[in-house]
Amino acid sequence: MASGRDVEITVVADEQAVARLVAERLVEQARAGGSIVLTGGSTPPIAYALAAGMEPDWSRVDLWWGDERCSPPDDPNSNYGQAKASLLDRLETPPASVHRMQGELGRDEGAAAYARELEGVGTFDLVLLGLGPDGHIASLFPNFPTLDVTEPAAIGSEAGHEPFIDRITMVMPRICDTRELLFLVAGDGKADAVARALAGAPSHDTPGSLARASGAGSTRAVLDEAAAAKL
Ligand code: 6PG
Repeated sequence: MASGRDVEITVVADEQAVARLVAERLVEQARAGGSIVLTGGSTPPIAYALAAGMEPDWSRVDLWWGDERCSPPDDPNSNYGQAKASLLDRLETPPASVHRMQGELGRDEGAAAYARELEGVGTFDLVLLGLGPDGHIASLFPNFPTLDVTEPAAIGSEAGHEPFIDRITMVMPRICDTRELLFLVAGDGKADAVARALAGAPSHDTPGSLARASGAGSTRAVLDEAAAAKL
């Protein structure tokens, strides 16, 4: 059985199974109500579409994003655009609020606007995180000085990974201020990063190793067998 450092790990067969488990967790939160922070990446949209199919009423949810590319919302690189197509457009009842990062404003202005939107917002209920093959989460990249920023809650960043488009990202303490932090990771290209992020010592080389729910929050990871291979 895979074990991590302060992370409860669930390993399932493949990417579809990862997406299904995460979709079930999203549905549970949609029914209970609360705040959910979405992530970009390749596996999450599969989970979003499944979740929308299982529960088309998200009226009790406040929706946020952990990071965004500085692209217009209808650009294929937009994390919001991806979630709109896979989740929002499939719902019968939309979320109570949808807090999109405005990538089209550029990284500094877009981050400042999001930081204002986050003022006074308390602990999130559920934060989803993908993990890059280099160990990045949201748009917090290995050894970038942005890893040490504690406020404002959202900042601009250069891209440390493809697509090489400027980013807006929540800062680490804001991401970690959640009742549950949930990693979803699939594929053998992630196995090294998963081992470093979930089982290794905290290190700026691997931003995922710094991401753990703060306070009384719990951290979980849903992995496929390939991503868990080096744990
Ligand atoms: C982004 C994401 C990012 C993502 C990882 C993993 O905007 O790119 O928020 O942090 O989760 O890069 O992405 P993949 O699942 O596509 O590898």
